[in-house]
Amino acid sequence: MINIVLFGAPGCGKGTQAQRLKEHYGIDHVSTGEVIRDQIRRGTELGRSMESYIAQGKLAPDEIVIGMIAEYVAAHKESAGCIFDGFPRTTAQAEAFDAILEEHGLKVDIMVDIHVPEEELVRRILLRGKDSGRADDASEEVIRGRLEVYRMQTAIVSDYYAAQGKYASVNGTGTMDEVFGRIATVIDGLK
Ligand code: AP5
Ligand code: MG
Repeated sequence: MINIVLFGAPGCGKGTQAQRLKEHYGIDHVSTGEVIRDQIRRGTELGRSMESYIAQGKLAPDEIVIGMIAEYVAAHKESAGCIFDGFPRTTAQAEAFDAILEEHGLKVDIMVDIHVPEEELVRRILLRGKDSGRADDASEEVIRGRLEVYRMQTAIVSDYYAAQGKYASVNGTGTMDEVFGRIATVIDGLK
């Protein structure tokens, strides 16, 4: 099983590239943001408890997100591989993730960090926000707040994987095909 952590600031292209990687490598994809939005849409108790975090662009509590991933890994432990999109986002999540995977005899193979300049991120998200229906895409203030949360709480998670020799950074600008090619080169280099 090959486990890829797809990392980077809001709007860098994690979801876009995860979709392509999923098809190309025949592996699974889980986005914690999508799981949370789905819970909100379905009006579950978990969804209701997460709604304000998402709308304000703040991180959901570690224990809830870690619980979601623990459940996901247990249900997919026989999978050929998985792309983890938007998780882990704090060092506490990264540590818990290692423990969860280890319980099933699994590990993270690589973190791929997609780099895009901040003004391009804002431009992409504002464009998507016109029809995404995502509460956190609606205003530039919230978008900039999400980027701030990324800088203050999430960016540091790359150090955790770099210390394990499992970190690769790719340029996330250019066409979606170009970015895909750069990520595929990293993944193919693992074999
Ligand atoms: P999440 O859903 O993970 O959102 P995000 O990280 O803010 O990132 P986005 O989904 O906005 O962007 P993306 O990187 O997937 O880019 P995309 O491919 O869409 O998280 C949302 C919220 O959930 C968080 O704020 C938090 O509240 C909560 N949450 C989630 N995970 C959590 C966790 N682990 N812990 C705690 N809380 C958590 O691309 C963006 C746009 O750009 C698209 O329109 C796309 O078409 C376009 N685009 C893509 N590539 C290119 C390109 N090369 N050129 C031009 N445009 C491009
Ligand atoms: Mg996404």
